[in-house]
Amino acid sequence: MGKPKVTVIGAGFVGATSAQRIVEKQLADVVLFDVVEDMPQGKALDMMQSASVEGFDTQILGTNDYADTAGSDIVVITAGIARKPGMSRDDLLNTNAKIIRDVVTQVLKYSPNAILITVTNPLDVMTYLAWKISGLEHHQVFGMAGVLDSARYASFIAEAIPCSIKDVRAMVLGGHGDTMVPVPQYSTVNGIPITQLLPEEKISEINDRTRNGGAEIVKLLKTGSAYYAPSASVVAMVEAVLLDSKRVLPCCAFLTGQYGLESVYCGVPVVLGRNGVERIIELDINDSDLDLLKESAEAVKDLTIKLDQASA
Ligand code: APR
Repeated sequence: MGKPKVTVIGAGFVGATSAQRIVEKQLADVVLFDVVEDMPQGKALDMMQSASVEGFDTQILGTNDYADTAGSDIVVITAGIARKPGMSRDDLLNTNAKIIRDVVTQVLKYSPNAILITVTNPLDVMTYLAWKISGLEHHQVFGMAGVLDSARYASFIAEAIPCSIKDVRAMVLGGHGDTMVPVPQYSTVNGIPITQLLPEEKISEINDRTRNGGAEIVKLLKTGSAYYAPSASVVAMVEAVLLDSKRVLPCCAFLTGQYGLESVYCGVPVVLGRNGVERIIELDINDSDLDLLKESAEAVKDLTIKLDQASA
């Protein structure tokens, strides 16, 4: 049996770092694709030359030719433009939608049954678009946001308590934007809800910082957006699928009535395995969090309508 094959579309900051993490963990052989001529080849060559030092046997190929992506088990889509200071993820809508349409059409020609994991922003709408264009089952198409937002939340919780990050499990639901919903009730330190460990004002402060976690980094970087935590998060999802480990992770998944939400991609906890999203977990959340989740899903729906109108 050959090694699994993962294609990463977009060899920019998120794409290249994801490729690096996948080969270093020896999860799969990687094809790194970009439209910029020679750049993915250069990055792939550089990564391959780290193999003897890092000690990995997995291969990485850089390419501008979709034919090289043929037979991929998973395709991670990071292609698109990233935010600049002052921009919201939603400002990327039309530019990135064009890119997603092109990428998904090309990818499917060569890997008709792949699992697609989207990273491009605005995440929830791009995931919906990828699913719609692909014609794949919705459990095969999902987005990376919740793992990242929860990882950010966890880091702020560990800092506030303070405690080891290893003992923190954080939960963030909803769209990947200003309306995301950190859920203190399901965010724990080794099973102890943070509501028992931190005062309400502190929780509300770190909830806000989590919602603005991406923007805080964009403001500091000035020329691009975050990529270390985003790539770590997408690789956690790739690993769960390839190893069929049934990890319970918050992901951008297609809802069919859960949480009272229908036909919308939004962040919820799911079981991730070889078939992609194998189950959606419906948490018993309090009414105010449920209202916020519904508001967040509405914001995603509004943006989807805007996109449909722009492309009509
Ligand atoms: N096909 C393939 N690659 C493309 C295409 C396309 N049609 N259009 C652009 N790209 C490539 C660019 O050439 C670039 O190398 O996508 C890459 C994007 O990389 P960066 O600009 O470094 O952006 P990055 O920080 O990686 O973010 C990518 O992920 O987190 C989100 O908001 C972020 O939408 C953005 C995406």
